[in-house]
Amino acid sequence: MRHRKLKHQLTEICHRVWQKGWVAANDGNISAKLPNGTFLATPTGVSKLTITPEMLINIDENGNVLDRNKKLKPSSEIKMHLRCYKDRPDVNAVVHAHPPVATGFAVAGVPLDNYSIPETIIVLGSIPITPYGTPSTDEVPNNIAPYIQKHDVVLLQNHGALALGADLMTAYYRMETLELFAQISLNAHILGGTKELSEKDSQQLISMRAQYGVTGRHPGIKRYSPR
Ligand code: 13P
Repeated sequence: MRHRKLKHQLTEICHRVWQKGWVAANDGNISAKLPNGTFLATPTGVSKLTITPEMLINIDENGNVLDRNKKLKPSSEIKMHLRCYKDRPDVNAVVHAHPPVATGFAVAGVPLDNYSIPETIIVLGSIPITPYGTPSTDEVPNNIAPYIQKHDVVLLQNHGALALGADLMTAYYRMETLELFAQISLNAHILGGTKELSEKDSQQLISMRAQYGVTGRHPGIKRYSPR
């Protein structure tokens, strides 16, 4: 996708993330890879509602700002984003937000790793919680690294959620799927508990990923944990 179109799409996704109530104040950050191998990232400390295409920052793979005379600085979580691109060459977009129900699971220490809804099994598989890291430090990229080898969506312990995708819309839609799954799982818990699908039914859904054109990496029937 061309530079200008990508900037507009990234801006639109910033606005959607705010409208969905997945971020408060300046929370959240979004990035995308450009065809020339550099990246567009949201600036630090700006509400996702007020982002405009001109505010997006062009950076290289080490986080160096390539725009001249740019007053804004890239997101404080840029190391987390750059680690996703470095370790996953198939990834071209990263969305980080604090969707309240999914983040509730991340705070409670309850992974969303049950196989109970066809859409989620096909698109995401299980969703683990990566160990806590202080935001903006190397702890965050180091702690997510083993998990993003097998997952495109993870919960960040006591923090929020991270979605990776081959393109921006895919990464964004994965965040939507995560938050709806979290809401449904919470409702099921209130109503007496989730009834998982059988291993046979789950396996059949997993085998349909190619048919649905699902890109990325998702665990199969065996819930993957690097620990
Ligand atoms: P930035 O404004 O630096 O992107 O940080 C927001 C955030 O959510 C930190 O986790």
